Amino acid sequence: QRNEYKAQYNILDAAASYYQQQLKTHQHRDQAVSYLKSRGLTGKIAHIFGIGYAPPGWDNLLKVLGTTPQEQQLLETSGMLIRHEEKDSLYDRFRERIMFPIRDMRGRVIAFGGRVLGDDKPKYLNSPETDTFHKSRELYGLYEARKLSAKLERIIIVEGYMDVISLAQFGITYAVATLGTATTAQHLERLFKTVPEIIFCFDGDNAGRKAAERALEAALPIIKDGLQARFLFLPEGEDPDTLIRQESKEGFEKRLNEAPQLSDFFFRSLSEEVDMTSMDGRARFSNQALPLIQQMKTSLLQQMMLEKICEVTGLTLEQINSTINLAQSTPS
Ligand code: UTP
Ligand code: MN
Ligand code: MN
Ligand code: MN
Ligand code: MN
Repeated sequence: QRNEYKAQYNILDAAASYYQQQLKTHQHRDQAVSYLKSRGLTGKIAHIFGIGYAPPGWDNLLKVLGTTPQEQQLLETSGMLIRHEEKDSLYDRFRERIMFPIRDMRGRVIAFGGRVLGDDKPKYLNSPETDTFHKSRELYGLYEARKLSAKLERIIIVEGYMDVISLAQFGITYAVATLGTATTAQHLERLFKTVPEIIFCFDGDNAGRKAAERALEAALPIIKDGLQARFLFLPEGEDPDTLIRQESKEGFEKRLNEAPQLSDFFFRSLSEEVDMTSMDGRARFSNQALPLIQQMKTSLLQQMMLEKICEVTGLTLEQINSTINLAQSTPS
């Protein structure tokens, strides 16, 4: 229907095919294939996710797909070519990388992630924002998850491409990843249209724990009765990719099934920051918790969380309600 972008989708699709083809035929394909093998990926899963190889060189894609000015223009606007301003020439954005095509819900390729084959930095390079690729809306692996699962009942949000792919290879076919951005309200609203339960599962490191706290804040205004958000924390130094390889589907699903609920994580993380045995600490706790709970949709869960605050602080519901009302009527 949206003919204006049809050529752009077509050329991105052609790029995905080109990279996949290079993984099969390029003279340096062995490097890429052994890298993927070293990460434990099977040919089958690589095929399902359309993994490819961008060979070394500045103009491989340019030469193959950019044979006319119109095609070059399309490749540039879709982020595949970069313009060198001084020389006024174009060159390939992705060079000597493992390529992960990012598909939209309809399966159209809209962008790529590219990983270096070693430890160089930056480890991952993503397509820039374009008219057809909005990082705050798109989720890597959602199309594949819907295709691989008969019926999606829950979705896991992880950090990276390799996490999504490894989980799928081991039979957990319902993980998606944000694309180098924090989880947004738009992500969550889209997912909750598909499933009633989301489990956040970020890396077992400081960045992962920060991401979980931000995800909690994004989820609070969206959650309502009938929807569930849970938070799985992994052992220090592990990510879903490394852990599923140690624990297999059963071990990982056991963790998923035992993952704390949003309200558990909420109270745990807030009370960790204060001394709950002191009055001052409990006051600080309430001051931090109440504005967050206030953002929630009116629900039984919201009510129960308020009651929990009463329980741990000794405040009455009336006192809390008057604090909330006061906060609402005070201009900030
Ligand atoms: P991580 O930093 O957790 O990836 O980034 P990792 O687990 O070490 O990577 P592997 O397992 O060695 O391949 C998670 C995600 O964050 C984004 C990518 O989407 C990546 O999958 N990221 C990370 C970037 O966009 N750029 C980077 O330089 C690093
Ligand atoms: Mn890392
Ligand atoms: Mn990480
Ligand atoms: Mn990893
Ligand atoms: Mn990781």
